[in-house]
Amino acid sequence: MYNLLTLMEIDKKELEHLLELSIILKSERRELLKNKIFTMIFQKASTRTRVSFEVAMLELGGHAIALNVSDIQLSRGESIEDTARTLALYSHAIGARVYSHSDVERLAKVSRVPVINMLSDLYHPCQTLADLLTIREYKKEKDLTLAWIGDGDNVCNSLIIGCHLAGIKIRVGCPEGYEPCEDAIRFARESVEIIHNSKEAIKDADIVYTDSFVSMGKESEREERLKAFLPNYQVNEELFSLAKKDAIFMHCLPAKRGEEVTDAVIDGERSVVWRQAENRLHTQKALLVRLLRNEGIKD
Ligand code: CP
Ligand code: NVA
Repeated sequence: MYNLLTLMEIDKKELEHLLELSIILKSERRELLKNKIFTMIFQKASTRTRVSFEVAMLELGGHAIALNVSDIQLSRGESIEDTARTLALYSHAIGARVYSHSDVERLAKVSRVPVINMLSDLYHPCQTLADLLTIREYKKEKDLTLAWIGDGDNVCNSLIIGCHLAGIKIRVGCPEGYEPCEDAIRFARESVEIIHNSKEAIKDADIVYTDSFVSMGKESEREERLKAFLPNYQVNEELFSLAKKDAIFMHCLPAKRGEEVTDAVIDGERSVVWRQAENRLHTQKALLVRLLRNEGIKD
């Protein structure tokens, strides 16, 4: 059993195992988690994560319970620790989407069942699993380079870790002050390069990835962020043309069209954003099977 909080918890072998299991579960529906319960807490909005986890549990023969924080006693001051202790009595795993990464760490510290980070301010490991499956489906060649353009945010941090595990080079093109976190960079030292120039970062890349310039929880910084990122860090046709001719475009979604990406790129032929969203379902099934199977509620 392990918790999945950042993606640094797994090694290359476990990543391979998860991706292979995802491919199997993508091709055949199997009820591997009969009567298992997955409880999710949401401090912030979610479309893909929430629905794909709910559907994953249903299709695996189990059940998911999604709780908005306003529905539970956490919103009235019950501690994270007591919430975790309670939910672990009825669930085989707990998922949480939180503002502060320390909240998911606190949950994991006391939980008797595995905890999955469904996005914090620092990491989004479930997104990375789907992204790595997507890259495997579209890019068969070795020695791939991914260019991350924009904010070195939660999605970027987990992707840096995932690319390192998968043997993919990652160049982060971001303005000064918007770099990814030190822990992710340290973990992936040999695989990651930070470049404060979007054109240099994207040049000849096989994969181009961007995300919103204003993540959830950063809304009060919107004006200064847009000033820092626009126009240089918008993935438009001109910037995208500097990547390889067959480069794919990726985005975790939701996208703010006209800010970090233009319609022409996200709706273009080389955009794989819908496959990424679909693959959330398959990779999360694999993750749930890995964490919940043969793992009853621990003593
Ligand atoms: N990519 C992602 O996590 O989407 P949601 O915020 O809709 O869950
Ligand atoms: N970086 C974005 C990702 C949303 C899936 C956010 O945190 O809002």
